[in-house]
Amino acid sequence: MSTSLTEIMRKHGTDKASDHHNYSQYYSALFDPIREEKLNLLEIGIGTMNPNIPSSMIGTPWKYVPGSSLRAWEEYFPNANIYGCDIDKDILFQKGRISTFYVDQTNPDSIREKICETPITFDIIIDDGLHHFPTNWAMLKQIFSKLNPGGIYVIEDILNFDSKILEEDFVRENKGTFDYIKIPNPKNTADNNVLVVRKSVQRDLVIITSAINVPKPERSVFHVQDRFSQTLKTISSVRKHLPNSLIYLVEVSELALDMLSDLREKCDLVLICGKDERTQYYSRIAKSFGEVCMLQIAIEKIPDCVNVIYKLSGRYYLSDDFKVENMRRDKYNFLCTYAEANATNVYQTTFYSFPKTKLEDYKRALGDTIEMMYAHSMDIERALYETIRGEDVNRVEKLGCKGWYSVNGREYEC
Ligand SMILES: C[S@@+](CC[C@H](N)C(=O)[O-])C[C@H]1O[C@@H](n2cnc3c(N)ncnc32)[C@H](O)[C@@H]1O
Repeated sequence: MSTSLTEIMRKHGTDKASDHHNYSQYYSALFDPIREEKLNLLEIGIGTMNPNIPSSMIGTPWKYVPGSSLRAWEEYFPNANIYGCDIDKDILFQKGRISTFYVDQTNPDSIREKICETPITFDIIIDDGLHHFPTNWAMLKQIFSKLNPGGIYVIEDILNFDSKILEEDFVRENKGTFDYIKIPNPKNTADNNVLVVRKSVQRDLVIITSAINVPKPERSVFHVQDRFSQTLKTISSVRKHLPNSLIYLVEVSELALDMLSDLREKCDLVLICGKDERTQYYSRIAKSFGEVCMLQIAIEKIPDCVNVIYKLSGRYYLSDDFKVENMRRDKYNFLCTYAEANATNVYQTTFYSFPKTKLEDYKRALGDTIEMMYAHSMDIERALYETIRGEDVNRVEKLGCKGWYSVNGREYEC
């Protein structure tokens, strides 16, 4: 455990501690403080000796063995899971805490399938794959949501750094530090450079409003056990599509203890609000009133670290059509439809989002919504349309959300 990273890297034969790349000292400063932690580390580039594959290790002045850096990381981080990926299928292996898989980092579909669509998120990502900066940057943007808050992403061996990227919206919106560092090395003044990104600990929050145990058949054709399973699907869809988000479940009904403890395990916070006077009173009047009260209770608990707040109705789930990039981080995001019955536009309230900077405005809108629902017997979809200013709203064409109507069991998609 006392062995330094430079010694470990030399022992395993990666070039990260060589005359050409003296990264190990820099990495020690970066990683020593978290060395003992339980981490997931992903390195792109296992180290092929196939001369026909670009960025191969052919020409290394010692007998290089593919997977050298992965073995070094495994020894250096005693409690980490080490993942490696490469375009060369012949060098994939599994050993100890190391697992490897195929990916072609020039192909967004391959990246989506092999990295984005898996449930694993990472604390450290190191791109030592194809050394072509536009490819590395495109990949960083595609898999950045898989980096945990506080996580570190490094692109190694940068030859032609495009500093314009540091002014892109992506950098501004993904709060964190983006530093291009030229590591001093008299023997290599060309590509001994790294881009180091530290993702801020800011997180998004998904509030799930839920009523699992409702009287059957008046309000739902589904039995409590079905509704519970549907809610678990809601939660797992959020973990999959918004992997770094906190999940708050606001539950209005009374639940069996085993269900409750399962939900507590899967969510960051479960708020049981069936006994809250406001909810009790309003829920008796109509479902919409109960929903507003549940939201009012949940937003009292929003922590400082939250950036964007999503609201999702329990038993609906984010489908593979959900695209986080369709949801602007600086505006309300609603799907707006025309309701013929009311001859007016309404906001779809199954799923929507807004930035925390609009929280005070949202609280006001919820208060006004209650008033309008009372005074004009409106439902929440219409009342929110009336109380949230149109110019603050990004109108989303498709939310990527599926589920079932409780009252008749029909499938629903928006
Ligand atoms: C410099 S080597 C990695 C060395 C290794 N990390 C080490 O330190 O021991 C770069 C690797 O990137 C891989 N590579 C090249 N193009 C790729 C692509 N399009 N997608 C994924 N990997 C690629 C190569 O096969 C090669 O194994």
